[in-house]
Amino acid sequence: MRAFVFLKLIFISLLVVSCTDSSSSLETPLIQAYDYDIIKELTLDEAAVVSAHPLASEVGAHILKQGGNAIDAAIAVQFSLAVVYPNAGNIGGGGFMVLHTKDGESYSIDFRETAPNAASKDMFLDEGGEVTDKSLNGHLASGVPGTIAGIFLAHEKFGKLPMDKLIEPAITLAELGFSITEAEAKGLNSKKTDFEKYNTKPPVFIKNTDWKDGDTLVQKDLAKTLRRIAKNGKTEFYEGKTAKLIVEEMERGGGIITMDDLKNYQAVLRKTRQFNYKDYSITTMDLPSSGGIMLQQMLHMALPYKLDTLEFHSPEAIQLMVEIERRAYADRTEYMGDPDYVTVPTQQLTDSLYLISRMKDYVPGKAGKSESIFPGLEESEETTHLSIVDKEGNAVAVTTTINTNYGSRVVVGEAGFILNNEMDDFSAKPNAPNAFGLLGTDANAIKPKKRMVSSMTPTIVTKDNKVFMVVGTPGGSTIITSLFQSIVNIIDFKLSPSMAVNAPKFHHQWLPDVVYIEKDFSPQAQTALTAMGYTLEKREPIGRTELILIDEKGKIHAIADKRGDDSAAGY
Ligand code: DON
Repeated sequence: MRAFVFLKLIFISLLVVSCTDSSSSLETPLIQAYDYDIIKELTLDEAAVVSAHPLASEVGAHILKQGGNAIDAAIAVQFSLAVVYPNAGNIGGGGFMVLHTKDGESYSIDFRETAPNAASKDMFLDEGGEVTDKSLNGHLASGVPGTIAGIFLAHEKFGKLPMDKLIEPAITLAELGFSITEAEAKGLNSKKTDFEKYNTKPPVFIKNTDWKDGDTLVQKDLAKTLRRIAKNGKTEFYEGKTAKLIVEEMERGGGIITMDDLKNYQAVLRKTRQFNYKDYSITTMDLPSSGGIMLQQMLHMALPYKLDTLEFHSPEAIQLMVEIERRAYADRTEYMGDPDYVTVPTQQLTDSLYLISRMKDYVPGKAGKSESIFPGLEESEETTHLSIVDKEGNAVAVTTTINTNYGSRVVVGEAGFILNNEMDDFSAKPNAPNAFGLLGTDANAIKPKKRMVSSMTPTIVTKDNKVFMVVGTPGGSTIITSLFQSIVNIIDFKLSPSMAVNAPKFHHQWLPDVVYIEKDFSPQAQTALTAMGYTLEKREPIGRTELILIDEKGKIHAIADKRGDDSAAGY
C-alpha cells in the first residue's frame, strides 16, 4: 500500500449512480486517488483493463462494472490518463484504436494528428539546411490533435454509456487532485526548465520546490476543459472555447495551428490490417502506422525458420529476429507515408514470396550489415497503450501519444492540457534521423493536412475468431519490435504472459546498425552475438507493454509491464 505523510484517505466518488444499463447493480464506486496500489498481474473471470496508471485502470474497471462495454472503458481510461499520466496520456495528441467486437467484426479508428495547413516541407530546417529542434520543442512541434475526435467517433459507433459518465471520473481526478507516483514526480522535475521555457502562461506542472512521490496534483483548468467537453461534445474542442484557447496559445507562442485546422480535423474509421500467423489471426493498425505492415513482415519473415524449434533468447533465435527487424525497418524508411498522400506498395511489402526473398542474404551465425541491406522492392517517448476486454467478448487496444515525454511541453493556457510534438514523426529532411533515430524519405515529408508515419501498433490476436490476446506498447521505433517479440514469446517460445512482457527485449531498426538491448539482457547471449559480429548497445527499458491473454479455460490474464507504474484492474 502506498502510504502518504498526512494519511490522507480521501475517497473520491467517481461515478454517479445513473447509467443506461438498468440491469447493472449501481452502488457508487469509490476510487482512492491518494492511496492506491500498482497491480502488475491479475487473473480474472469477466473483464480486464491494463493501462499505464493504476487510477486510470481502476476507472476503466468501474465503467465495466457499471455496464459499460470495452469501448466505454477505453474512453474513460483515455480521459483519466490525460489527467493522471500527463507525460503521455492526453487530449492534446493522437493515436489509434483497434477493436474486435463480440460479433467477430474488427475495426480501427485513426485519430493521428495532422500537419497544420501552414506547415511546409522545410519548416524545421535552418538557413544552412540543417534540422532544428523545433519539430520537438515548443509550439511549432504540434500537429493538430486527434484524440477527442477519435474518442467521439468510437463512442458514436460503439459506445453504450453516455459520454458525460465516461468523462466524469477524469473531471473529478483533475478537480480534486490525486497523489503522483515517484516516476511522475521525477518526470515533472526533469522537465521543469522546459515547462518554463516553452510556456506563455505558467502551467500547474511548475512548482517552486521539487515534486515528490505522494504530492497532490490538482488541475483546475484541465477540469474545466473536460467539463466543457462533457457538456458541448466534440465541437467544444474543435470549434468552441477550447479551440479558441489553443489558437490563442499558438498566437502567443509562434505556433501555426488555426481555427480552420481544428475545424477540419477528422478521425477516420479505417480497415484494419489483418493476417494470419500460424493458427492465429492478427488484427492490427494499418497506415498511417507502419506498425501493422511491419509486424506482418516480421512474423512472415520468421515463419519459414520455425521459431518454435529454437530456444527463447538463444543466440540463434535472437540473431534471426534481429536480421528480420533490420530488413523491415529498411523498408519502412523508404516506402511508408500517409496513404492519403502517397502510394505505399503495401501489397508487395507484405507478399510472402517477397518476404522469403528478403531473407536470402541472411547468414546464420554471422552479423548482417545495414550498409549492404537496402529497401527491398524492385522498382516496379511519449506514448501510452491500454488493453481492455469486457464480459460480452469485445476487445479494445488503444495506443495514443503526444510523442516524446510531455510532448512539446506547451500547456494550452487556461485549458490545462499538453500539446503533442508529433511533427517530429515526419521526416524533416530525407535521411535525417528523428527523435527515435528513424529515417524517412519524401513518402513521409511534411505536407499540409498530412498524417506523419507512426510506429504505434495496437493489436488483437484471435484464434477461431475468439479473442486470444490484446497487446500494445509505447516506445517509438521499438514499438513494433516489442510487439513482434511479445507475440512470438507466447506463440512460439511458450512463455507465460508475464514473462512474455517482462523478459528483456532487444531492438534493431536497420540504422544505426546496432542491436539495442535492455540492461538485464542475458550475458551469454551478449557474448555470442558479439562473436557473430554484432555491435550491442545497452539502453533504457524497451516499451511498456499492456497485455491481456484469454486462456483455453476462459481465464483472463491481465499483465501490466514491470517497466513503469502500469497497472491491471478488472473483475
Ligand atoms: O507515433 C509514433 O510512432 C511515435 N510518436 C510514438 C512515440 C512513443 O512511443 C514514445 N514513447 N515512448
